[in-house]
Parts: sequence; structure tokens; C-alpha cells
Amino acid sequence: MKQSIFNKFRGIAYDKAGISLGEQKKELVIARVAKRQRALNITDAAKYLEYLESPNHEEELIHFLDAISTNFTHFMREKSHFELLEQEIDIWKKSGRSRYRIWCAASSSGEEPYSIAITVADAFQRNIPDVRILATDINTTVLKKASAGEYSGKAIDVFSKAQRLAYFTRLTERDAEDAVYRVKPEIRDLLVFKRLNLAQPPFPMKGPIDIVFCRNVMIYFDREVRQRLVSEIERLLAPGGLLMVGHSETLAGLQTGMKAMRPSVYRKVI
Ligand SMILES: C[S@@+](CC[C@H](N)C(=O)[O-])C[C@H]1O[C@@H](n2cnc3c(N)ncnc32)[C@H](O)[C@@H]1O
Repeated sequence: MKQSIFNKFRGIAYDKAGISLGEQKKELVIARVAKRQRALNITDAAKYLEYLESPNHEEELIHFLDAISTNFTHFMREKSHFELLEQEIDIWKKSGRSRYRIWCAASSSGEEPYSIAITVADAFQRNIPDVRILATDINTTVLKKASAGEYSGKAIDVFSKAQRLAYFTRLTERDAEDAVYRVKPEIRDLLVFKRLNLAQPPFPMKGPIDIVFCRNVMIYFDREVRQRLVSEIERLLAPGGLLMVGHSETLAGLQTGMKAMRPSVYRKVI
């Protein structure tokens, strides 16, 4: 792929999704653009770029962004955040309040928001008050998978047997690694999935939101995009609300009134 074509692709990724693609990502872009070329039967990357930029093919931008975004995730990833969620729920229980809002800001294929929902269900011993979890991502392909809520036995292996029985229905005959399990309606109903671009605030949610999980997505953004996003999260958070970022992420260097509670956990001070 010519450098000028690569630069155009990364320009689009940045302008439309805030995703910064460094020089070292060239091979990745070539492979992911090739996927779209195959799907459209276009042999040349330059021709695909023309197609992508054409006003007649506006929907291709969604497919391009789906192809370009990295969606790695798994259930109970970075477990300490779920332990903290449990502790927070203990505080909620004592407060007597009954309405809580959680936002999972880059939910990928659903493992993260369902892990949140299962933690909530366990903590409330399934006697869940008015809790809603908004799960958003820019990638429509992963959002569809998340919405279906179907995972392999291997993927849900991280849960205890009691949790698997309580929160998943096995769709295939055998209990095996490759068996398919579906999240039960009582968990699925806690969630709402929506497409949302984190690089383009302000967001349509009204807030206030009690906890935001915004994990392992800011790594793709430069300082400017991260600053806009963090200011918007701070605006939407309830006083005392929590923001969790990925274990390798930090708000250091950004302007925010949120206070670091511990690495990767911030609280909006009242
Ligand atoms: C590596 S995954 C992380 C998933 C999950 N939060 C976790 O920690 O396991 C990053 C996710 O961010 C999403 N993403 C990337 N750019 C985005 C943007 N501008 N707006 C919303 N989501 C975005 C990707 O589609 C992908 O699903």
C-alpha cells in the first residue's frame, strides 16, 4: 500500500473515530482494508479508498470503522474493577437509594457489560433494584454479537458453576468448551446497547451516571480526543460517581477535577 493511501485511511480513522494509527499500524491497516476489499470484490486499496470516500457509499464508513477497530475483550477482564463494583454496591445498599445507572463506554462484543450485570445480580442476590447498564461501542458488528448474548463454554469458563447455571442457558446439547450459552433474560434485560462514537461529544445521554467503565479504548486516542472524552464523562457522572479506565491507562496529563482513588479508578468529587 502506498504511503499516501495509508495516510488517507488513517486520516479517516482519526477524523471519524478519533483513532490514531501510528506508522507501526500499517500492516494492520493493510490486512483490515483487504477484508473490506474482499467483501466488495475490489482488488486495489486505492480503488477501495475511492469507494469509501464516494458520497454514494456513505454506509461503507461504518464497515471501514468496524474493520479498523480492535475489539479484544473477555469476561471479567481486569477483575479488580468488578471487586470495586461489588464494594460500591454495598455502599448503594446502605444508602437506600434504588435507582442506579452504569455506562460501559466501549463494550465491544458484550463480555464487559455482561460481567457488570452479573456482578450486579450477584451483589443484589438477584433482587435487583432499578439498575440500567448502557453499553455502547462504535463498532456495529460487535454490538450485534453483544446484543445476541451468545458465548462459548470456554468464554464463560471464568464464572463459577453456580453463576453459569444462574445466568446462562445452554443452547447446545453437551456441556463443553465449544457449547453455546445464551445470557438469560434477567441479565440481558439490565442492558441497553447503542452505537456511540466516543470521539464526538457531547453525547445524547442525560445522566447522571453512577459508574462509567471506559476501559482499553483511550489507548487508541491522542491527548486531544482523550481530553474531550474525559471532560464529557466528568460532566455526565453523578457527584461521587466512579470512572474506571483500563489498567494500562491513566488520566495523568489531562485536565480533570476527578480524583484518582487508585491506579485506573477515579471519582468525581462532590
Ligand atoms: C480493545 S476493545 C476494549 C473492550 C472492553 N472495554 C475491554 O476493556 O475489554 C476497544 C473497543 O473500543 C471501541 N472503540 C474504538 N474507537 C471507538 C470510538 N471512537 N467510539 C466508541 N468505541 C470505540 C472498539 O470498537 C472496541 O470494541
